[in-house]
Amino acid sequence: LNILVVSAEAFPLAKTGGLGDAVSGLCRALHRPGHTHVTLMLPAYPAALEQAGPLHECARLEGLAGGTATLLAGTMPSLGLPVLLLRNDALYRRDGLYADAEGNEYPDNAERFAALAQAAARVAWGIPGVQRPDIVHAHDWHAALVPLYLRQMRADEPKTLLTLHNIAFQGVFPLDLAPALGIRPSFCTSDCAEFWGRLNFLKAGIRHADLISVVSRTYAREILTPAFGCGLEGVLADRAGDSISIPNGIDVSVWNPQADEYLPGLDFSIGRMENKAVCKRRLQERFGLAPDSGAAVMALGSRVTRQKMADVAAQALPGALESHPELQVCILGRGEKPLEAALQDLGRRYPGRCAVHVGFQEPEAHLLHAGADILLHGSRFEPFGLTPLYAMRYGTIPIGSRVGGMADTIRDPGVARGLESMRQATGVLFDGDSAADMAAAIDRTLALRRHPDIWQAMQRNAMRTDFSWSRAAPLYLRAYRALCPQRPAGVS
Ligand code: ADP
Ligand code: GLC
Repeated sequence: LNILVVSAEAFPLAKTGGLGDAVSGLCRALHRPGHTHVTLMLPAYPAALEQAGPLHECARLEGLAGGTATLLAGTMPSLGLPVLLLRNDALYRRDGLYADAEGNEYPDNAERFAALAQAAARVAWGIPGVQRPDIVHAHDWHAALVPLYLRQMRADEPKTLLTLHNIAFQGVFPLDLAPALGIRPSFCTSDCAEFWGRLNFLKAGIRHADLISVVSRTYAREILTPAFGCGLEGVLADRAGDSISIPNGIDVSVWNPQADEYLPGLDFSIGRMENKAVCKRRLQERFGLAPDSGAAVMALGSRVTRQKMADVAAQALPGALESHPELQVCILGRGEKPLEAALQDLGRRYPGRCAVHVGFQEPEAHLLHAGADILLHGSRFEPFGLTPLYAMRYGTIPIGSRVGGMADTIRDPGVARGLESMRQATGVLFDGDSAADMAAAIDRTLALRRHPDIWQAMQRNAMRTDFSWSRAAPLYLRAYRALCPQRPAGVS
């Protein structure tokens, strides 16, 4: 099978969040030369051009949104699979993937991602010298126009799979851009790409993809309701018969406490946890927290947004710090400016006990997950939630909201089942999005930590849980095969 994976992100070439990790992890798990052949297609951002070399030009594509582009072929670093980069410097030669350093979305994002989808549809249709895929696997709104363009070309093949990582981002633009994006008027109707008088890339994808997959079972159910559907619940319900859910995995070679490339000499595992204490000391040093080995270090490591309840954390943390003298808080992330400022303010109010690094670097993220005792990951909605799983691999107990993927992956028998039942737990879940809800979950977690035998049992459970892609990859393969049964397995 030949699969063309189209995405705006793939780690390490381009990443702003979990999408980049999930796409790369999946590609790595699926790519088996001679069996399943995966090609990744991304915009040629500067960082991607730098890392994917050596590159050669394999096609010149005229008439795309935003002008002529070239298609460059290279190799995906560390994954070793082929990558196609769509080069149009006027569109992609920018510092950010979607927005500038101040967080302002680029005004031409419609052209930028329509061009990606148009180019992918052309590759799918057939370009001399470029392998034609059996399946196009598009991720999120950035690639969601591929099925629409293929329909416009009246191409029944290749088949398309659209994976929904986060339907809060839909790619919504003025309808009058349609001609410049090569979308015909007959596709600008309410049963197609039009949505409340605007153009909606994700809706178009949901309408036209042959199959839709969602990254967790609970999120797949939630998005059929008005509370989580972001207006697309009806469109999704119409396609329920062609929708499946496949939980993500995590890249267990990258997130591995026994051999973490960012923590050389600090490997640890169940039964050999001494180095976790060393990681904690390093983390305290790096963040300027008091060097106290008995402190309960609670990490927050995510995009600083309302999705991730950064606003709620800013309200809940002062009380938690006041009531629990053992608590230290360590925050790494960037996102919405006012929320960043609110968290930075906390850092100033509690020097030595609360430290905030605005930004994001992989090595620091690894130290954060390895060195902390607890990860606080509140979310108003969470399609999957990779971060709590990274933490769990390192014996860091997640506190997560009972939504989406976290409701599926974090095991918490609940307060009602009593303290002893927590010996089976891997973390703490909470409902609601008030500061009191979050504070109560922190209280409960710190109370559990006062029972070292229960806490250690939770750490062991968390570290043992298998979240590798080897569970998800066969489910995607089955979906691909269902889409093109005529391709016998094992033939590339
Ligand atoms: P989401 O994709 O919604 O952000 P996930 O938990 O699934 O949530 O994935 C988050 C990924 O993004 C992790 O790999 C994490 O290390 C990384 N990450 C967290 N915060 C940032 C940030 N501010 N900038 C870039 N990457 C981040
Ligand atoms: C999105 C979601 C996150 C998910 C990630 C990978 O960014 O917000 O929950 O884990 O995609 O699928």
